[in-house]
Amino acid sequence: MVKRKTRITRPKGKLGILIPGLGAVATTFIAGIEAIRTQKKALPIGSLTQMGTIRLGKRTEKRMPLIKDFVPLASLDDLVFGGWDIQNESCYETARKSGVLEPEDLKRLRPRLEKIYPWKAVFSEEYVKRLKGNHVKKAKTKRQLALELIKDIKEFKKKNKLNRLVMIWCGSTEVFLKPSEVHSTLTNFEKGLEKNDPNISSSMIYAYAALSMGIPFANGAPNLSVDIPAMLELAKKNKVPICGKDFKTGQTLMKTIIAPGLKSRLIGLKGWFSTNLLGNRDGEVLDEPSSLKTKEESKLSVLDGILQPNLYPDLYRNYHHKVTINYYPPAGDKKEGWDNIDIVGWLGYPMQIKIDFLCRDSILAAPLCLDLVLFLDLAKRAGMHGIQEWLSFYFKSPQCSPSVYPEHDIFIQLMKLKNTLRHLKGEKLITHLGLEYYD
Ligand SMILES: NC(=O)c1ccc[n+]([C@@H]2O[C@H](COP(=O)([O-])OP(=O)(O)OC[C@H]3O[C@@H](n4cnc5c(N)ncnc54)[C@H](O)[C@@H]3O)[C@@H](O)[C@H]2O)c1
Repeated sequence: MVKRKTRITRPKGKLGILIPGLGAVATTFIAGIEAIRTQKKALPIGSLTQMGTIRLGKRTEKRMPLIKDFVPLASLDDLVFGGWDIQNESCYETARKSGVLEPEDLKRLRPRLEKIYPWKAVFSEEYVKRLKGNHVKKAKTKRQLALELIKDIKEFKKKNKLNRLVMIWCGSTEVFLKPSEVHSTLTNFEKGLEKNDPNISSSMIYAYAALSMGIPFANGAPNLSVDIPAMLELAKKNKVPICGKDFKTGQTLMKTIIAPGLKSRLIGLKGWFSTNLLGNRDGEVLDEPSSLKTKEESKLSVLDGILQPNLYPDLYRNYHHKVTINYYPPAGDKKEGWDNIDIVGWLGYPMQIKIDFLCRDSILAAPLCLDLVLFLDLAKRAGMHGIQEWLSFYFKSPQCSPSVYPEHDIFIQLMKLKNTLRHLKGEKLITHLGLEYYD
């Protein structure tokens, strides 16, 4: 049965991208978009919205358009960037210091990147202990801080004649916080803003400002941010799409590629030891135990979700899963992810897989930022709101309805994403049954 098409308004005019945290990931994202817009050889590799295709109908129909030709996405030429940071330096200076892109590549982009300076941040060392801010807003209450953010956003919108906005958190990982009373309802949260409740972190204040203005929010870090009932209530009330948490790049990306493969062949698991060496500022922030705990919780959750030990106790009960993160400055942004995987086959015979992934964190994260802002903008124009589970593909700890477990298998996540696009456009969902080819 072909579903009815969803009404999607056209992406007319400019789309403002609001970024709390103009660090390595954000500047690699912005610099990349500038390069792609102006240089023929700069390709948006890793971006599904730019390079991915989608199969429509039967295989015999040979309909495989690019995703960007299938659904109405904002054009890269219409993106305008703005953001906040605790350091008052231009995107060029931060990108140069981050050392992700080569100096000669950055030189060409310098005039454009030098124009983007961050606005003063909402920040407290209470939530990111390793950083000291010198470009930070001051106000008596957290509510006033939220109002200051709203003012920045309104000015940015007016100055650049923006039609729509999306916010994506690329700021540091905050200390581990558990959902508490102040997060349980919007009323409690708003009272908490007035009373400077310590359980309201900086990232929640940004999220509150965005959702209050009807601006979609994506969370690239493992912080709670929009993953609390108060924010779900606000997203529902203002009909805003949200998604998170924690970009799926590097080692966790590998894990969610390999684990579904092992499980598909019913290969057992005795243990999975993962360690990371990274030397960028993210690594420095994660060197502090309370931020590290937020990240480790996010990284540990994926295997159980994929392997389902409750359904396959003989294969996956009691496997040992260990994840560590080591701050090692010489590595810079070129992270190294080591995995030792102890697996078992026929009759319980042991085998091992070793992975040494020499990756570049921000190079893997930048295309995710692009896809997320474009898809969230699409979701908003299509009238979708609340948690966008179809964007789980991009996250280590996908936000989902409390009634279901999160889906971590990257292949199922991709199928869900593409089927959502087919559904929006009234195309048949792909089941991969394919019996009709043999009638
Ligand atoms: N690079 C990856 O592959 C990857 C993957 C998953 C998640 N992440 C997460 O993405 C985030 C960004 O990573 P990065 O490598 O760019 O780190 P980074 O340290 O280079 O950048 C983070 C920036 O956020 C700023 N910041 C911190 N708190 C802020 C606040 N309250 N308001 C405004 N700015 C604030 C910092 O000053 C810094 O410039 C981190 O939380 C990281 O854990 C990154």
